[in-house]
Amino acid sequence: MGSDETTLRLGVNIDHVATLRNARGGAYPDPVRAAKLAEAAGADGITAHLREDRRHIRDADIDALMAALAVPLNFEMAATVEMQEIALRHRPHAVCIVPEKREERTTEGGLEVAGDKARLAEFIEPLAAVGCRVSLFVAADRDQISAAAEIGAAVVELHTGAYCDYHYEGRFAERDEELARLGEMARLAHSLGLEVHAGHGLTFDTVTPVAAFPEVRELNIGHFLISESVFAGLDGAISEMRALMRSARA
Ligand code: PXP
Repeated sequence: MGSDETTLRLGVNIDHVATLRNARGGAYPDPVRAAKLAEAAGADGITAHLREDRRHIRDADIDALMAALAVPLNFEMAATVEMQEIALRHRPHAVCIVPEKREERTTEGGLEVAGDKARLAEFIEPLAAVGCRVSLFVAADRDQISAAAEIGAAVVELHTGAYCDYHYEGRFAERDEELARLGEMARLAHSLGLEVHAGHGLTFDTVTPVAAFPEVRELNIGHFLISESVFAGLDGAISEMRALMRSARA
């Protein structure tokens, strides 16, 4: 996603349009149509996660998304041979490596990079070689971020799920500690030459402090925007999110 050094981009994750489609097993609603609407509403990129169990998008959706989109696709996937082959075939703009457990409802934690450096270095090398920007989805943890830089990732995406959970659970002291950690780790990652993204669980209520970190270049937001679009439309939901991001930055 091209932009200058200060812009904060919004990647819209359309997984849950596919979840809704899959609930009835038919073709509606079409995640590609949602992606085009998101693009028209000002998304800088589209994110989609091909899970091992295909509970969100399916293989055919990747082709359709890549053919239809003018903005870049950020392809989320687990570090498996199957997913690597798919990514190498499609060569999306970005590949974000996430941990994946079959039984989890969503991506619950960050990727274990520090304990798996050699394997991940080997895993991401061919992806980078074909021109994908490789991003690692990590917790706000010094060792994970340092390891991401060591193995040559271009980007780290900081997991904001814990911060958002604390907010909605009313655990404000822990929320503020996690937010401080996110800010510190955004600075660390930037100082190590990594591009910094953030995402997971972000809403209108929680986006502002994360969007205000000057090192953060991109937010990836899905579940809330798709949910809010039931009430406000995708255009309304995305426009309001963008307005919050802009004012956080101002
Ligand atoms: N970033 C990453 C790496 C993710 O795995 C997800 C969830 O698929 C998101 C961002 C978006 O999270 P949410 O749907 O909670 O906004």
